[in-house]
Amino acid sequence: MKKVAVDDLKPGMKLAKDIILDDGRFLLLKGFTLKKRFLEKIRLYNIPYVYVEDDSEETEYVSEEKIYSETFHTIKNIMQAVREGSDIDVDSVKKTICQIICRIINNDSVFMNLTGIRDIDNYTYLHSVDVCIYSIIAGKNMNLPMELLNNLALGAILHDIGKCKVPLEILNKPARLTDSEYEIVKKHSEYGYEILTKTSGLNEEIAKIALNHHEHWNGNGYPRGLKGEEIDLLSRIVAIADVYDALTANRVYRKRFMPHEAAEYIIANSGTQFDPQIVNVFIQSISVYPPDIIVMLNTGEIARVLETKGPPSIRPKVMVITRKEGPPVFEPYEVDLSKNPEYNIVDIIS
Ligand SMILES: [Fe+2]
Repeated sequence: MKKVAVDDLKPGMKLAKDIILDDGRFLLLKGFTLKKRFLEKIRLYNIPYVYVEDDSEETEYVSEEKIYSETFHTIKNIMQAVREGSDIDVDSVKKTICQIICRIINNDSVFMNLTGIRDIDNYTYLHSVDVCIYSIIAGKNMNLPMELLNNLALGAILHDIGKCKVPLEILNKPARLTDSEYEIVKKHSEYGYEILTKTSGLNEEIAKIALNHHEHWNGNGYPRGLKGEEIDLLSRIVAIADVYDALTANRVYRKRFMPHEAAEYIIANSGTQFDPQIVNVFIQSISVYPPDIIVMLNTGEIARVLETKGPPSIRPKVMVITRKEGPPVFEPYEVDLSKNPEYNIVDIIS
């Protein structure tokens, strides 16, 4: 362990001692790997120095932003290649997936500030990355062994690969699909299974995720109308992650759901569309409002989401810091959304 002045700290160093504020509150805990936003926090509280582990700066630190961006480019390249008739670059996807799993194993919410980016042109690729992240978080909290977690992650990122066989004019149609167009889009499950079973380096368990991620727990899904545990476990996880992420995106025909509304939709469809046991784990593991993001409340107040102990809540505690209109807030104050049903998050500002 060594003592390092705050100005000499670098992202990637690992804290060897807790950082405790003068009033006794914990700022950061021993074992945390320093990130840019943690360094800003340390500076904000005028902490002169901290203790870090001796060897921590030797390991090259790759930021979550970089991993997220690499993963996005990997799936984009793969989907474009498949559309042109080329093979899937299995090695590159396995490499990038491995980095995501390792980070999530250390910290569930490490990518949660990055998910939910909505860029219309890149929607399918960003959606694939986010579904992969949410699936790994759920799988980790279900204590899946590493081999299954790996299959889950690969199947999740490739779940919509069959869309490469759907004509682009249908896929990118800037309006609601007609019934016959929707029937064509639905074929992506079987197309995906076909593509993945033909790809060497991927197994049946991974391919099944492409085939079964639109099956419903009650048998009302497609393509085969499988029911309950007839649907493989990994597909039941991806089904939840897929819908959760899709609902939080704007569509031409509807406004996006706020994360807590998407979570409430998943809960409302537990036992019908989704496996109820997995819904419980999913909702308790996904930090729908990660700490420090800035949100707008239905009251016009603007607030920062606070870190909470225990499982993340879909209605977190927030600190009101300003107002859109009306008098300024001189003394920030806390609101616990879980105890104040009249308050709602209506937008995410940053
Ligand atoms: Fe799909």
